[in-house]
This record gives sequence, C-alpha cells and structure tokens, in this order.
Amino acid sequence: VSGAPKPPPPLALQKAVGGIYPAAALLAGLELGVFDALGARRLSAEALAAERGVADAIRLAALLDALVVHGFLERDASGYANGAEARRYLVAGAPGFIGPIAPVYAQIFRGVLSFADAVRTGRPSAERDFAAEGGAAFLDGLHATAVAAGRDLVRRLDLAEARHLVDLGCGSAGLAIAACEALPALAATAIDLPGVAELAQARVARAGLASRIAVVAGDALAGPLALGRPADVVAMRALLQVLGPAECRKAVTNAAASLRSGGILAVIGAVLDDDSLAPVEAVGFNIALMSLFPAGRAHTMHAHADWFAAAGLGSPERVALPGANSLVWARKP
Ligand SMILES: C[S@@+](CC[C@H](N)C(=O)[O-])C[C@H]1O[C@@H](n2cnc3c(N)ncnc32)[C@H](O)[C@@H]1O
Repeated sequence: VSGAPKPPPPLALQKAVGGIYPAAALLAGLELGVFDALGARRLSAEALAAERGVADAIRLAALLDALVVHGFLERDASGYANGAEARRYLVAGAPGFIGPIAPVYAQIFRGVLSFADAVRTGRPSAERDFAAEGGAAFLDGLHATAVAAGRDLVRRLDLAEARHLVDLGCGSAGLAIAACEALPALAATAIDLPGVAELAQARVARAGLASRIAVVAGDALAGPLALGRPADVVAMRALLQVLGPAECRKAVTNAAASLRSGGILAVIGAVLDDDSLAPVEAVGFNIALMSLFPAGRAHTMHAHADWFAAAGLGSPERVALPGANSLVWARKP
C-alpha cells in the first residue's frame, strides 16, 4: 500500500549468517595447507589436490573459489595464487606470518558455535586447558602474535633503560623473546604454570636466549613472584583475559608488588569500553573467551583501573591496538 513504511531488509540477519563462510573457508584453507603449498606459485585445483594428497579436486576448487571471493587468493585461467594479504600473513616464513594458527581458530570456532551450551550451563563449551593435550599447539599458534606484541611494546613504551622484564603468563615466551632481541641490555623472567613453562623453555633455547631469559614455573595468583630482584617491566599478554575478575585483581597485585618504583605494568589483550559495546572486535572475542575459559572474558577498562588502583599503581593509560586488543599500562609510584 502506498504510503506504508517499507519494512527494513534483513541485513543484520544476512550479514550474520554470511559471516561464517569466510571464517570456515579460511580455517579449511589453513588446515589443508593451501597457502603454504601455493607459496609464490600459481597452481590449478587438480595440481594442488595432487600435491596435498586430497581426494576431491572438485570440492577443493570450491574452497579455492571461496578463498578468492573472500580476499585470500587470486584466480586466472592458469590457476590459483596467494593474494597480497595471504602472501604476507599466511605463508610460513613470510614477514608478517601469523603462525600455525589453525588449532587456535579451530578451537575458538568450536567454542563460539556451541556458545548456547556455555550460556546454558555456565561452563566453557570448548574448554582450553593449556597444560592439557592440544595446549602446546594452541600456544605455538599464538607465538608469532606474542612476538609481534613484544616488538610493539618496546616501541610504544620507551624501555631503553629497562634491564629486567617479566613476561607473566608467558605461554611460548614470545613477548620476552622479542623484547630481548630488540634490546640487547635487557634480561627477562618468563613465568607460566608447570606444564607450560617447558614449552617456553624450549622456545627460549631455540631463540638462543637461554642465558638472558630465565623460565620459571609459577602461579601468578599464588603471591609475590619469585624473582630475586625487582622488575622494570611486568608484561601480561592475554593473561587477564583467561582469568575471572577476582583472579585478575590478585594477578595485578602480585605483578605490581614485583616492580621497582617507577617500573611499568603493561597489560595487553582484549579490553572493553565501560559500556561493553566497543571495540566491536572485543565484543566478539569476549564470546570466544567465555567459550574457552571457566571465568575468562574481555574485562572493561573500568575494571582494569580498579585493579591497578588496588595494587597501588597510578591511573592506567589505554592505547587502542588494531583489532580487539588494547595496551593498558601505568607506572608504580
Ligand atoms: C592465552 S595464553 C597467552 C600466552 C602468551 N602470553 C601469549 O601472548 O601468547 C594465557 C597464558 O596464561 C597462563 N596462565 C593462566 N593462569 C596462570 C596463572 N595463574 N599463573 C601463570 N600463568 C597462567 C596460561 O598457562 C597460558 O600460557
């Protein structure tokens, strides 16, 4: 009827449902080793199927077409090649390689697709225990981004005078490794729970930094950190996001107690605005965190400020990083 308001098209619905296909294609491409196999070459679907030893070149071609449409690959008459972004980020050895990330995405996708279970039961729908089977592959998958975060941290906070950095909840110790590589006068202590510290130790040895990075099996919640000497910087990347609020308060207090006066506490990870509606990437990632960890989540900036104050630190500054993450930091008076 003329004059009647036009109903809104179901755009949010279409966007939500369509959103799964790029993610699914990316994960399948990573799991099948498509990006590494293509490298700098151009191959037909049949040639790639033969090379990867997969049974179905028709399904592979459908996947490759999806990866073209979603911006990862290019196609011409002679076959498929990595696009610029895939060449930079998805091929092992490339300058921006994000690492063997498939196990991380696979677990996150499992969790978020069964998030209703987590809401219903109050338990993670795809729990990630880092010391259990699959934990090492997950942390190895995070290594490249931890390294990038370490490089970024020493650039953003002037750490030229720092001599002792603590990487708390270090995982693979990528942050400590990158910071020590960037700053020759720096030494580090990398701390994680027993069962994970061994992974960090292996990574540190592989980086040739065993003489400068001490790996310690310890619990950030158990009390003051066993360091022997005060720290100039304590960095926690993606640690508070796997913990609940009461645990975060303890971890921040224990970390702050190990700093010298003037030292820096730096938290890196997904942080929400106080209204919990932004950044949009952190709102999304919050669902992932809650599907993987019993009490983990993206905490608000207000919560961080509260823990920093309780630990006797100055009011923290927040630097928005690309995507879901922020750097939240303050100096100890
Ligand atoms: C998401 S991972 C991040 C690892 C690493 N920082 C990175 O950026 O790749 C969280 C890490 O925190 C560690 N963690 C969890 N609870 C901890 C605790 N109470 N004390 C020390 N480490 C802890 C986990 O074992 C895991 O390695």
